[in-house]
Amino acid sequence: MGVIAATLGSAVGLGNVWRFPAEAQANGGAAFLLLYIACVIILGVPMMLVEMTLGRHGRSDVVGVFKKLEPGKPWWGVGALAILASLLITGFYMVVEGWTAEYLWNSITGALYEGTGESVAQTDAVLKARMGEYINSDFSPLIFTLVVFMINVGILIGGVQKGIERVSNILMPMFFVVLAILCCMTLSLDGAGEGLRWFLSPDFSLITWDTVVNALGQTFFSLSIGMGCIVTYASYYPDNTRLTGTAVIVAMMSLLVALMVGCVIFPSVTHFGLTDHGLAGSTLVFRTLPNVFSMMPGTTFWSILFFTLLFVAALTSTVSMVEVTVAFMQERLKVSRAKAVVLTVVPMIVLGIFSSLSFGSLSDFTIAGKTFFDLLDFIATNLLLPLGGIILCIYVGWFAPKTMLREQLTNHGRTRLLLLNAIVFIIRYVAPLLIGVIMVFTFI
Ligand code: TRP
Repeated sequence: MGVIAATLGSAVGLGNVWRFPAEAQANGGAAFLLLYIACVIILGVPMMLVEMTLGRHGRSDVVGVFKKLEPGKPWWGVGALAILASLLITGFYMVVEGWTAEYLWNSITGALYEGTGESVAQTDAVLKARMGEYINSDFSPLIFTLVVFMINVGILIGGVQKGIERVSNILMPMFFVVLAILCCMTLSLDGAGEGLRWFLSPDFSLITWDTVVNALGQTFFSLSIGMGCIVTYASYYPDNTRLTGTAVIVAMMSLLVALMVGCVIFPSVTHFGLTDHGLAGSTLVFRTLPNVFSMMPGTTFWSILFFTLLFVAALTSTVSMVEVTVAFMQERLKVSRAKAVVLTVVPMIVLGIFSSLSFGSLSDFTIAGKTFFDLLDFIATNLLLPLGGIILCIYVGWFAPKTMLREQLTNHGRTRLLLLNAIVFIIRYVAPLLIGVIMVFTFI
C-alpha cells in the first residue's frame, strides 16, 4: 500500500486537476480525451514499468543507476535532461501551486466569495474580478508563489516527506470522495449535458499532430514519467512489489481523477455560460470551481476542503520533482542536504518569478507566440519528458543487461505475468517508435 500511495502522490496533482481540463479545452475535448486514454494505456503504463525496472534493479536515482550499471558510458547524461526538465516544470508548477494556496487562503478569510450570491451572472462577474486580483496581477500571486517555494524548501530540508506522505495517505482517498460528490453535483445541473457531450463524444476531425503531441505530453506529465521521478521512487520498492500491478493502478487512478475533473468542469462551463468569456486555458479551473462551490450549500466549507486537498496533492508532486535534483546534488557535489536544496531551488525561484509575472505585467512578452509560463510548459512537457522517456525506454529495451526487464517484471520468476511478452514488445519496439514519430512531427 505504501508503495502505491507514494507513487500515486507523485502522479496525482495539478497535472490532473488543472492541466488536463485546460489541455482538453484547447484540443477539442473528447478527441483529446480519447488520445490521452490511448497514450496512457499503450505508452504510459509501459513507460512507468521502464522507470520502475531501472529504479528497483539499480536501487539508485536516475544518474546513480547509470553510474552503477554503465560505468564510464554516457548514459547518465539522461540525468542532465531530467534535471533540466525538473527545473523548467517546477518553474511554472509552483506558480499554479501558489494560486491554489491563494484560493485556499482567500476561502479561509472569506474574501473569495465576498459579494457573491445574488445571481449566477453576478457571482461569476465577482469571481472573474477576483481571478484578476489573484492570478492576473503582479504582487499577490508572486507572494504566494514564493510562500509555496518556502514550504517546499522547509519540507525538503526538514526531511519530513514521510510525514507529508502519511498525511496524504489520508487526504488522497478524501480527494476522490470530494471529487465524486462534486461530479454528482455538476452532472445534475441544467445544461450539463451539452458540456458533457463535448467532453465525451469525440469529433475525430479535430485530431491533428498538435493534438497527438499534446496528449503524449499530458500522459508523461500526469504520470510523472520521463525525468526519473519514478526511477527514484522505485529504488525504494520492496522486492516483492508487483510492478505491473502498481503501474496499472497508479495510471488508472490518475486517469480516473482526470475524468472526474472533466465531468465537474465541462458541465459547469456550459451551465454557467462561461464559454463566451474567452476563458483562457490556464485559469479555467480557478474560474469554474469557485462558481460551483458558490452554488452549493456550505460554500466556504467545500471551498476550503477542496483547495486544501488540491494543495496537498500538489505538494506531494512538487516534493518528488525537486527531490530528483536535490538527490543528484547531494551525491555528485557532495554538499549538505540544506545546501543542495537551496542550490536547487534558487534557479527554480527565478523562473517562477518570471512565470508568475507572465500573467501580469509580462503577459505581452511572448517568445514564438507563447508567454514565458507557456514556453516552460511546452519545452518541458512536450519535448524534454518524451526525449528522456525514449532514451530510458531504448536503454531498458535494448542495452540493459538482457534479463533485467523480465526479472523485474516477474519478481525474478516468482510471479507469472500473462502479458509479459506483449509488454516487452511494446517497450522494445512500439514505445520508442511511437514516441519518436510523434516527436519528429512536433519538430516539423
Ligand atoms: N504528475 C504530477 C501531476 O500530475 C506532476 C509531476 C510530479 C511530474 N513529478 C513529475 C511531471 C515528474 C513530470 C515529471 O501533477
